[in-house]
Amino acid sequence: MSDLKLPGAPYIGYQNQTLMMENVALCDVATEFGTPLFAYSKAAMLSALEEYKLAFAGRKARIHYAMKANSSLGVLRVFAQSGCGFDIVSGGELARVLAAGGKAEHIIFSGVGKTRSEIREALEAGICCFNVESEPELDVINEVALSAGKVAPISLRVNPNVDAKTHPYISTGLKDNKFGIAHDHALETYKRASTLKGLKIKGIDCHIGSQITEISPYEDAVSRVLDLVDSIEANGIHIDHLDFGGGLGIDYEGETPPKAHALWTQLFKLIDQRGYGERFIFVEPGRSLVGNAGVCLTRIEFLKTGEHKNFCIVDAAMNDVPRPAMYEAFHAIVPLTQEGRSKDTNTTLTYDIVGPVCESGDWLGRDRTLSVGVGDALAILSAGAYCMSMSSNYNSRGRAAEVLIDAEHVQLIRRRETNEDLMRQEV
Ligand code: LLP
Repeated sequence: MSDLKLPGAPYIGYQNQTLMMENVALCDVATEFGTPLFAYSKAAMLSALEEYKLAFAGRKARIHYAMKANSSLGVLRVFAQSGCGFDIVSGGELARVLAAGGKAEHIIFSGVGKTRSEIREALEAGICCFNVESEPELDVINEVALSAGKVAPISLRVNPNVDAKTHPYISTGLKDNKFGIAHDHALETYKRASTLKGLKIKGIDCHIGSQITEISPYEDAVSRVLDLVDSIEANGIHIDHLDFGGGLGIDYEGETPPKAHALWTQLFKLIDQRGYGERFIFVEPGRSLVGNAGVCLTRIEFLKTGEHKNFCIVDAAMNDVPRPAMYEAFHAIVPLTQEGRSKDTNTTLTYDIVGPVCESGDWLGRDRTLSVGVGDALAILSAGAYCMSMSSNYNSRGRAAEVLIDAEHVQLIRRRETNEDLMRQEV
């Protein structure tokens, strides 16, 4: 691969001016399967997972893939086959994990608004733990468990009130967030939970935010949570597992977050020092397992030049890759062949790369310098997490197809949604 290091390297990069994912030329995939198309590198996912596995070698620990990042069955199967547990947030996600071959007893159920029927389904499936986010939820889980003649394993999500130093929409560990139980109320809530007959206290959990690129917010969260465990256990309530959530960031535009291995080596020092090294450790990574493993391929429909702005209008849109519209997020966007296809008509210009959706917010990249022609294809990088899983049918656009790439093999894991698919549920 060439010297230019793209997010997703070494699994994504140029070879002889052609953008490759593993051993496959992405321009061939775009031609064969059409665009917009998501392509994921299996080796990139497994290598990201390996970082965590390495850090946890010899420890009592389990990795629960936070499947909201990418819940396609083909992706879930990769993680299920690699022995991962799963972090779910809905009955729909529960059904997907089970369909992909994940084990119920390795599932933890997060989220602030679990419904009674979701709680019942999860209890019946026999999941590992409910991560409870409020006192009223505690009561509802207790009630549902008692009426089903079961005991629900629970953990309380505590809000450590630390600043994850990330985008406000994806920061979740501060006091004013809707998530978790305030640090100051945690002990009281544990005491109450211990009196409810339908519940069995298993653990404690926190998740301070997403796209975190520094170690220090995690260190703060770990020590705040361990302070709580000290006082909870001093009150005679035993905590089996400590769940520190997900949140580790990836490279979108040159960020250099620590690797999972480096992060956890550091955190284990702290955990060991505090005497909790023998406890079962859970994590819930999403983005750091899949984000840099995926790209969205899109083709240029029109080039519209203007006095103030040039627009590169492509066939992917905010319904496929919603992160720029939602968070003003940056995704690198690169051509599938470095020389551009229509060389004769090429000039290098600065464009806003936009989709066909009727919204000014429908942009994918701003002020990008490209040397391209109509019909050329581009790759939106770092698109493995929170793109397909947040996609929609806005403007009655069918969702993209997806392929999984493994060395030189390309497997279709989701066919493109048709107009018929879109109308199927309507009566
Ligand atoms: N655990 C819990 C309880 C969570 O709420 C989340 C993500 C995760 C784990 C996984 O976090 P990760 O390792 O992926 O950072 N749509 C936003 C991200 C929202 C994250 C929501 N919670 C984005 O595109 O940036």
